[in-house]
Amino acid sequence: MTARPPIVAPSILSADFSRLGEAIAIADPEREWVHCDVMDHQFVPNLTFGPLIVAATRKLTRAIVDVHLMVERPWLMVDDFRAAGADVISVHLEAAPQTREVLRQIRATGAKAGLAIKPGTPYAAAAPYLPDLDVFLVMTVEPGFGGQAFMSEMLDKVTAARAEREKKKLEFLIEVDGGIAEATARTARAAGGDVFVAGNAIYHTSDPHAALAALRAAIAG
Ligand code: DX5
Ligand code: ZN
Repeated sequence: MTARPPIVAPSILSADFSRLGEAIAIADPEREWVHCDVMDHQFVPNLTFGPLIVAATRKLTRAIVDVHLMVERPWLMVDDFRAAGADVISVHLEAAPQTREVLRQIRATGAKAGLAIKPGTPYAAAAPYLPDLDVFLVMTVEPGFGGQAFMSEMLDKVTAARAEREKKKLEFLIEVDGGIAEATARTARAAGGDVFVAGNAIYHTSDPHAALAALRAAIAG
């Protein structure tokens, strides 16, 4: 099986948008992803941004642009986010009853297809779709806001997905999103995660560059 080096995905949700260029510049395009949280005030009780900011992000980095759609009816927006430059587009299982169809739609645009689950959604609900995924995104907080406490109980989903990937020789990456800091990144890596989204732990610090380096070190080895 191909080795998968762990990846940190700085989440711009926690960045200062008046200095977005500086915030994104800390990501090393060779190894990091830039995570963009799209919220519609319907699927989650918060409202963030749309394709315009994703297009700006695309211009600011060569890194993989990872778009996490926390929206109702995501299929209506997939094409616009791909046109804006998204490399990975993840939709929520809870918002996409025609799951396979939306995943196919994402791949048809040329983007990688991701499926995200909220803390209340069991692993078993997502398991049938794992063979159709490039990314399985396990939420370790309730989606909607940065800066919440990590829910370690969710790591059972990561472990289960990892085991299924080995068993069926699948290729998807496991992304862990919410409450990631050095210690939680370490446990999430040990549970089998590949991609670690971090907002506050990077951007709500006095030295985001050093905070990112500390996260890289926490998941290395
Ligand atoms: C929450 C978002 C996360 C958020 C994580 O709904 O999906 O990506 O940015 O922020 P932290 O790392 O602060 O928990
Ligand atoms: Zn996210």
